[in-house]
Amino acid sequence: MENFLKILNIVGARPNLPKIAPLLREMRQHLEITAILVHTGQHYDENLSDIFFRQMGIPAPQVNLEVGSGSHASQTSEILKRIEPVLDEHRPDVVVVVGDVNSTIAVSLAAAKLGIRVAHVEAGLRSFDRAMPEEINRVLTDAIADYLFVTEEDAITNLVKEGRARDCIFLVGNVMIDSLRHFLPVAQQSSIGTELGLKNGLGWERFGLLTLHRPSNVDSPEKLSSLLGAIDAVAAEVPVIFPVHPRTQQRISQAGIRHHPQLRMISPVGYLDFLCLMSKAALVLTDSGGIQEETTALGIPCLTLRENTERPVTISEGTNLLVGTDPAKIVAAAKDVLAGRGKAGRIPPLWDGHAAGRIVEILLRLVPRKKHPN
Ligand code: UD1
Ligand code: UDP
Repeated sequence: MENFLKILNIVGARPNLPKIAPLLREMRQHLEITAILVHTGQHYDENLSDIFFRQMGIPAPQVNLEVGSGSHASQTSEILKRIEPVLDEHRPDVVVVVGDVNSTIAVSLAAAKLGIRVAHVEAGLRSFDRAMPEEINRVLTDAIADYLFVTEEDAITNLVKEGRARDCIFLVGNVMIDSLRHFLPVAQQSSIGTELGLKNGLGWERFGLLTLHRPSNVDSPEKLSSLLGAIDAVAAEVPVIFPVHPRTQQRISQAGIRHHPQLRMISPVGYLDFLCLMSKAALVLTDSGGIQEETTALGIPCLTLRENTERPVTISEGTNLLVGTDPAKIVAAAKDVLAGRGKAGRIPPLWDGHAAGRIVEILLRLVPRKKHPN
């Protein structure tokens, strides 16, 4: 019987992958840790999943639950059903979940009911908007997790207000920024600039980078056309590269929306290409959670096309501006950035590339270990 620390790590959707990569790399440094990786299969397209494993050197998951797409209830309940026997078989000392997707809450709930400790990485973020499916996942996961690892001070306040004890909350920094720092030098070697005709012998052309996938922005054809209308006006000034999320692609095709020729819709790109594009963009327009943080870490101006953000430090300290979804405001803000009046920012405390090290050190110190068979 061995007294090692057995950690079962969960990924499901694209943004989980840059968060888990540095944690697994760190766990591998410690002989007393046995790390298991489970993929729920929430995202399954090559460009939303496999490419990240290859580019970031994430080991293949030991188990893939292959839940695929579905309504919130069916996806969440399938994960709950399929993870339970996996947890029973492996009996980890702790389950590590990241972010705020359906896989995060489903696995946390199954683990907590089996009496297995849960560590939530990126805890405490709140948009205070319950119409956002992720907000429900965040609140519920944080209510049942045992170890709450947070990226910014506001998250501590939110968790304490919700009744969580201060001694289970740890400000550790941002694992997504660990990945950014680790992979930026490799990403700079990407040929995506040349492939898209943005880069020639003289350097990079000025361009904007866009992502959109929040249901509140893309599920209604009227809202989506209004947003893309604003982007058309930006594309009249500079080319805008738009790697289109599959949810959004479906809505654009269904609505038959036409767009400016300089708004260049492409398939979602791998992590290294996207990081390269972000680091060279004149501005980024997005409704993504993670991209608000990555642009702040890179010092690239970001316009967030939402009415709220769960990541307020990117506004108070970073380069992020919450512009909302009014087309006139988006166009005015984009023109400001292109005229050199983008918001300056600084990097939030502890976003230094060492968050995963802090998390693993805390887990090694605090998680009680069962006796595991060899
Ligand atoms: C999910 C997360 C969201 C996260 C986003 C990251 C939830 C509730 N939502 O949203 O928080 O920001 O991932 O990208 O967990 N599809 C494919 N291929 C895939 C996956 C999905 O074509 O590999 C299509 C399917 O038609 C599916 C739709 O995209 O119905 C939406 O996928 P889903 O995982 O339900 O939600 P996302 O919008 O991707
Ligand atoms: N990303 C990527 N390729 C793309 C779009 C995004 O590699 O075409 C990366 C991005 O750099 C970040 C993560 O995907 O690391 C963010 O995921 P997403 O925006 O889908 O989810 P959210 O953060 O909103 O939950």
